[in-house]
Amino acid sequence: MTFHQTSISINKLLRFIGTIIISILIICLFINDISNNFNNNRISKIEVISLPGDQKKIDVGYGDDYWILTENNELYYKSMMLRKFIHKRSGVLDFAVGLDGTVAYIDIYTNEVYVRNMNVDWWYRIDDGNHAHQTISVCDYKTIFTTNDKLDCIKGVYDYKKDDKLDIYNWEYVDFYYTYYQVSCAFHDHSIWIRGNEEHAYLYINNYTHIPRSEIALKQIKALSEQHVIGVDYYNNLWERIRGTWIWVKNNVKSASINYNGDIFYIDSTNDSIYKLSKN
Ligand SMILES: *[C@@H]1O[C@H](CO)[C@@H](O)[C@H](O)[C@H]1NC(C)=O
Ligand SMILES: *[C@@H]1O[C@H](CO)[C@@H](O)[C@H](O)[C@H]1NC(C)=O
Repeated sequence: MTFHQTSISINKLLRFIGTIIISILIICLFINDISNNFNNNRISKIEVISLPGDQKKIDVGYGDDYWILTENNELYYKSMMLRKFIHKRSGVLDFAVGLDGTVAYIDIYTNEVYVRNMNVDWWYRIDDGNHAHQTISVCDYKTIFTTNDKLDCIKGVYDYKKDDKLDIYNWEYVDFYYTYYQVSCAFHDHSIWIRGNEEHAYLYINNYTHIPRSEIALKQIKALSEQHVIGVDYYNNLWERIRGTWIWVKNNVKSASINYNGDIFYIDSTNDSIYKLSKN
């Protein structure tokens, strides 16, 4: 009798423990699945980089062809047609790719702005010599934004072509009162995001209205629309803000860009490989 009762309760106990273990396993699998689905399915390695020097910045326009700036200030273009990197320029401080494929860069020694507009290997100077440009953002060939050494915001607007060759831009201060570390012209709606006061992200409305959009300092932003931007913080975390909410995407990101379609391209800070994070 006693023996019988004991064996029943041991049986029950075992069944109870079994049920708990199985439940825990199911929950673990479920959570694992959710977190995996959230990111891993979207990430694909597109390049194990083989350029001399570490990578500093990546930028991309409409599709998958992207540009890389190395720590040695060399600018490369990844041609999908030739399936290789093509060296495009030396002595580059910053560069940007526009929605229409326009590429502009700032010379590291002179702080002048150059653009490619006629021949794949010719770069024409388009600034007016009045500013020491530091960072650049290209909406398209008609509109280019820079920041200068005094953290002012400057806009270059295409005016006319001189001698069938030189593009003449009008350069004007957007604002020299407030602080602009970087400007990003959003591809979808040409809204303007800035890294402003304390390097936080703001939506630029006008000189006197910058709507704060981040609680932490960012070292890089790239905007797609008034409601869609990505940013990399000083701890190498990649963030994406969609419809009012910042979402942590991943760590170990040195530089990132987002193309017109919403695919994110980034440089992994641990080994300088390049990844594409497809939009779902
Ligand atoms: C913004 O400020 C700049 C100078 O900092 C000035 O030239 C421009 O007219 C101002 N724009 C507006 C809309 O107030
Ligand atoms: C680069 O580092 C990531 C982790 O951050 C790793 O998943 C990936 O396999 C590494 N790639 C190479 C080529 O070592």
